[in-house]
Amino acid sequence: MKVFSATALALVAPATALLRFPCAQLVIDRLDPLVNPGQAPSPHLHQILGGNSFNITMAPEKDMPAESTCTSCQFSEDFSNYWTAVLYFKARNGTYKRVPQIPNSGFTGVNGGMTVYYMQDGLYNFQQTSKVEAFQPGFRMFIGDVNARTKEEAERFRQLTFTCLDTINTRDPQTLDFPPAPCQAGIMTAVRFPTCWDGKNLDSPDHMAHMSYPEYGSFESGGPCPATHSVRMGQLFYEVLWDTSAFNDKEANDWPEDGSQPFVWSFGDGTGYANHGDYLFGWKDDALQRALDAPCYINCDTLTTQDADAMNACTVPRVVIEEIDGWVSELPGGHQASYVKRRWMEQIGLVRD
Ligand SMILES: *[C@@H]1O[C@H](CO)[C@@H](O)[C@H](O)[C@H]1NC(C)=O
Ligand SMILES: *[C@@H]1O[C@H](CO)[C@@H](O)[C@H](O)[C@H]1NC(C)=O
Repeated sequence: MKVFSATALALVAPATALLRFPCAQLVIDRLDPLVNPGQAPSPHLHQILGGNSFNITMAPEKDMPAESTCTSCQFSEDFSNYWTAVLYFKARNGTYKRVPQIPNSGFTGVNGGMTVYYMQDGLYNFQQTSKVEAFQPGFRMFIGDVNARTKEEAERFRQLTFTCLDTINTRDPQTLDFPPAPCQAGIMTAVRFPTCWDGKNLDSPDHMAHMSYPEYGSFESGGPCPATHSVRMGQLFYEVLWDTSAFNDKEANDWPEDGSQPFVWSFGDGTGYANHGDYLFGWKDDALQRALDAPCYINCDTLTTQDADAMNACTVPRVVIEEIDGWVSELPGGHQASYVKRRWMEQIGLVRD
C-alpha cells in the first residue's frame, strides 16, 4: 500500500502547513500570568506547557524565546505558553482526586500536556491551502468563561467541547458539558480559539475582545470575519486527553447516587460549561510564519523537531507548593464542585466575568 499512499500524497500535496504537535507538561501550578499576573497563588490550578521562561508575571514585552532555555513542545522554536485548567474526580464521600492525562494518538511517550494545532483552513485534512499570518510577539488571548454553568452561557463560545472516548481516536459526538457516563478510553477536551483579529491589539482587558468568531457560520464553514475584526487568522486549537480509567467503575469509585457525573474542573465547575484556555504567543523570530507557509504536517522541514524525552525533560519547578495529587477535601484554592453560577464570587472579584 506504500506506493498507493505516496501517489495519493503527491496528488493532494498541501500548499501550506497543518501544524499538529504535542507539548509535554512544563508544570502543574496555581499560576495564571494572563488573567492574574503577579498572583501566586492564582485562584485555580492549571497545567502549563511550552517555553521555560513561564513565570508568575509575563509582561507583553518579555522576550520569551530569548529568556527560555528549553520548551516542552515538539518544535524547538516554539517558546509559547499554552495552558488549561486540570480535571478532578469527586468521589461520593466528597473528596477529590486529580485525573491523570494521556498522550494523544500518535504521540506515545509524551508526558501529559496537550496537542496543539495551528490550522489555516477548517477542514481537518492535509490540504490546507489558505495562507494566514502568524500571531505577533506580545500576542495573547483567552477563551471561555470560568463562571459559565449553563448551556446558554457556554454557547457564547462556539467550540469548547468534550468527547467521550470509546477509543483514543473517537472525535464525535462533542458536547458542551461533561459526558454523563463513564468513557472507556477517557475524556477529550477541545478548546478552539476565535479566528478573526481586530488587526491592532495584541491583547485586550478581558483577553478576548481583540478576537472574534466569524460573523456567521464558523471557521470550519469558511464564515467571513466581521468588519470590526477583519483579519482572518489561523485557528489555534488544543486537545487534552484525560485518563479516567481509574474512575470508570461506578460502584468501586462511588459515582454520585443521583446519576450525575463526578468530574469537576479545578476551579469548581461541575457542569463542564466553563471549559477555557489561555495562550501566550512566543515563537522564535518568524519560525511560525515559515512553518505555516511550508507544506508540512506533523514534522516541518523549516523547524527542529524534538523527541518525547527532550520535551518531557523541559520542566520548571512548582511555585505554589500545596497538595494537588492526594485525595483532597477541597480543590486547590479552596473550591468545591459547583453547579450554579457563583455570583457572590463575582461580586467580590474573586473570579473574572
Ligand atoms: C520568575 O520571576 C522571579 C521574580 O521576578 C525571578 O526571580 C525568577 O528568576 C523568575 N524565574 C524564571 C524561571 O525566570
Ligand atoms: C473517599 O472515597 C475514595 C474513593 O472511594 C477513597 O479512596 C477515599 O479513601 C475516601 N476518603 C475518605 C476520607 O473516606
